[in-house]
Amino acid sequence: MSEKSFKALYVTENPDGTFSREVTTRNINNLPNHEVLIDVKYSSLNYKDALSATGNKGVTRKFPHTPGIDAAGVVREDKSGKFKAGDEVIVTGYDLGMNTSGGLAENVRVPAEWIVPKPANLSLKESMIIGTAGFTAAQALYKMEAFGQKPENGQILVTGASGGVGSMATAILSKAGYNVIASTGKQAKADYLKSLGASEIVDRAYVNDDSPKALLKPRWAGAIDNVGGNTLVTAHKACHKEGNITSIGIVDSPAFTATVFPFILNGINLIGVDSAHYPMERRKAIWNNLADKWKPGQLKHMHTVVSLQEVSGYIEPILKGETYGRIVVEL
Ligand SMILES: NC(=O)c1ccc[n+]([C@@H]2O[C@H](COP(=O)([O-])OP(=O)(O)OC[C@H]3O[C@@H](n4cnc5c(N)ncnc54)[C@H](OP(=O)(O)O)[C@@H]3O)[C@@H](O)[C@H]2O)c1
Repeated sequence: MSEKSFKALYVTENPDGTFSREVTTRNINNLPNHEVLIDVKYSSLNYKDALSATGNKGVTRKFPHTPGIDAAGVVREDKSGKFKAGDEVIVTGYDLGMNTSGGLAENVRVPAEWIVPKPANLSLKESMIIGTAGFTAAQALYKMEAFGQKPENGQILVTGASGGVGSMATAILSKAGYNVIASTGKQAKADYLKSLGASEIVDRAYVNDDSPKALLKPRWAGAIDNVGGNTLVTAHKACHKEGNITSIGIVDSPAFTATVFPFILNGINLIGVDSAHYPMERRKAIWNNLADKWKPGQLKHMHTVVSLQEVSGYIEPILKGETYGRIVVEL
């Protein structure tokens, strides 16, 4: 292959409105005209990538397209002069993999301002085991602590715990000294969740209260929620006074039909987490935490490595919530 050609997952829209995907050879001249060309070494597969790969127009408006919201690799050239050839870098979020050709490819070209220099204590592979999932979970903890969350305040609930964000949240919270209640639909993954540091495993039905009560007996001091819908409502109804609930995901539902009583009677905070557009200075601070005091010791045991050719086979399972841990793509 020439220096200009690269392999990429390519999703196309068919005339009948269906979508096809295949690994194909593309040319770097067809990448967007941004400053920094990166040779991608590792990427990862996230729920959002599965949406893009199946033609979800809320994530990706125009096809053909290469998904992949995460990329870690080596700078080949930088027109901005900020990075030099050979620098090891991480890109997560912004528009990567949404409407900008993404990390499920051997090359990406992105603006210099999207790039985080890889912290010394992380390998490129470790940075993609963490990926958007770990960065998002860590951002949730960072924001909760800004509102006074401390391990001694009590247990933290993690929902969708066996998934990518859930696994990373469980491992990061436990590394940071928190006692974690992991809510999962996969009882067979209880041992896996315990190995990440969860002290209690509950079935996801436990966090799906259907009573008309506005407040429930307090069960946790905070939560990292990946599920949305009635799970998020239950998390906020059953939170201790002054606790913090972070809203990350919508794998069940984007709806939030609730009362304000937990806010005005218990003083809880509902905190939004947007990993894509988080400001760069705080983004670097979080990556530095992930390379140091929040770096989970279990990274080796919480991922599966796949090739670009194998990615397609994981798209439907991730959409059905059947995968667990992180899926790392080796380019
Ligand atoms: N806000 C942000 O910046 C941001 C960043 C990253 C991800 N996200 C969002 O966070 C969510 C999780 O992403 P991910 O990459 O971790 O996905 P994932 O790996 O597919 O994990 C999702 C997990 O949720 C649980 N689940 C699936 N369907 C469910 C349902 N109907 N009801 C209850 N639980 C269900 C499953 O875990 P169990 O079997 O253990 O319950 C599943 O493994 C997605 O909605 C994603 O778009 C948001």
